[in-house]
Amino acid sequence: MAAPAKEAKETTTQKIALTGIKPSGTPHVGNYLGMIKPALKLAETFQAFYFIADYHALTTVNDPALMKQYVYEIVATWLALGLDPDEVIFYCQSDIPEIFELTWVLSCYTPKGLLNRAHAYKAKADANREEGRDEDAGVNAGLFSYPVLMAADILMFNTEVVPVGQDQKQHIEITRDIAAAFNNNYGKDVLTIPDAHIVEDVATIPGIDGRKMSKSYGNVVPLFAPPKKLRKQIMRIVTNSQTPEEPKDPDVDNIYNIYKYFASPEDLARVRKTYLEGGLAYGTMKQELFERLESTFGEAREQYDAYMADTAKMDKILAQGAEKARDIATPMMHKVRKTVGMQ
Ligand code: TRP
Repeated sequence: MAAPAKEAKETTTQKIALTGIKPSGTPHVGNYLGMIKPALKLAETFQAFYFIADYHALTTVNDPALMKQYVYEIVATWLALGLDPDEVIFYCQSDIPEIFELTWVLSCYTPKGLLNRAHAYKAKADANREEGRDEDAGVNAGLFSYPVLMAADILMFNTEVVPVGQDQKQHIEITRDIAAAFNNNYGKDVLTIPDAHIVEDVATIPGIDGRKMSKSYGNVVPLFAPPKKLRKQIMRIVTNSQTPEEPKDPDVDNIYNIYKYFASPEDLARVRKTYLEGGLAYGTMKQELFERLESTFGEAREQYDAYMADTAKMDKILAQGAEKARDIATPMMHKVRKTVGMQ
């Protein structure tokens, strides 16, 4: 008897998960734990659409060489960490012109007051007011309408689930409001109302100084830096001045609070015990964390470097992803145009 044909992956019944990654910095361990790892896991059961939100980055990244660099770094990172472009629809936002067409349509269903209350804009306006400046000083209209572009990203592909960090939750709520206003006006469910999927437990990975790991604090642990550079950064982790002999509370230690995400349960139990009983030197613990990160990311780093040395390969992958995305976006935009009375 012939071997049964390998079953094709069922895509028709799979739910759709979509998320955008803004190319505004080199990916770090916080991005990996908070976003990349859960998203790759989600892609095992959902039809995933993961894309580079390059036009969103344009609200803050104004140097073309830097923009290109960040885009490639993100593409190489995701591919090196196991994103399979045959399974995930992986593309650049700027390659899908329909998204920008939909953005305009949606902005006509977006109350301006809703955008006034969006966190990113509101924080800037509040700070300006406090400093006695015009409330819109330094605010471009792209930053102001950022949530509308994000709604178009999501609504274009009938997205059901959006995996994002806590900081993006409000954007998903705005998306839901816009979609409901649109559907309500035309009396039919043209747009799918999405749900946010918040990754709670790793939402605030601590950096080397204990504050949330963030590029803007300069406290990140890089994912794919050369080993020497990685080691140097690990050695900079801030600790208190307790001696090795003293018993310590692992839960308040910055080394432990990064290590715990990468250690096996056995190693974690062993280390915890030495913290609590005394006999743990911070230097030794830093070395152990460094080695653990090396064994976790060393192989992926080789792949990352290979991708970064072959940008043509990444271009090709993105072009194929864009083609698949447009196969969906084109008929969707057609439907929207028809709905609003343009065709
Ligand atoms: N605004 C998101 C961020 O800063 C990126 C993003 C753009 C996004 N479009 C999206 C996330 C659509 C989810 C869905 O991280």
